[in-house]
Amino acid sequence: MTANVTIVDHPLVQHKLTIMREKDTPTAVFRQLLREISHLLAYEVTRELPMTTKPIDTPLTEMDAPTLSGRKLALVSILRAGNGLLDGMLDLIPSARVGFVGLYRDEETLQPVQYYFKVPDRLDQRMVIAVDPMLATGNSSAAAIDLLKEAGATNIRFLCLLAAPEGIARMQEAHPDVPIVTAAVDEKLNEKGYIVPGLGDAGDRMYGTK
Ligand code: URA
Repeated sequence: MTANVTIVDHPLVQHKLTIMREKDTPTAVFRQLLREISHLLAYEVTRELPMTTKPIDTPLTEMDAPTLSGRKLALVSILRAGNGLLDGMLDLIPSARVGFVGLYRDEETLQPVQYYFKVPDRLDQRMVIAVDPMLATGNSSAAAIDLLKEAGATNIRFLCLLAAPEGIARMQEAHPDVPIVTAAVDEKLNEKGYIVPGLGDAGDRMYGTK
């Protein structure tokens, strides 16, 4: 795997992911596990947030203590499945600014079609983390990153739960500057653009649709 991809190969992440993959896992359990995994993925993807120090008083003494610096980071959910990762990220980073990119995948061409775009201001001054559980063909993800760059973002990371090699290749070709953090890289895409072995349609499994 190339240097720009981090696989969060942690026992808790892998254990929870296995339960999510199982086809009979109920919707409520799937959603809860996604939330829990997103806490662990958030820990990894925010590793390089800029830090400074500030003077504080502990009950015993004064100290210069570490604290986050700069503008609040921006979390951008790629609708609709991105919201599953977003919810857990916000548990950990409640003051993050939040944006949404609405893209659906044309089932015949597998190309992304935009229907919504709303992001925080001054994206150029924020770390931006785009979230979508499934990096499949990479077409939607690459299109979402295009839109974020057009809106001024320069410091972007992409967070997903599962990635296909095809999606990683597509992202690295279109956006080599965007690091990818994922819980696993699966074997391949099938002819319908689903990740194999995968977990099915993440949005349907989160929301009990279909
Ligand atoms: N989107 C999903 O939800 N699942 C896949 O396997 C591919 C794209």
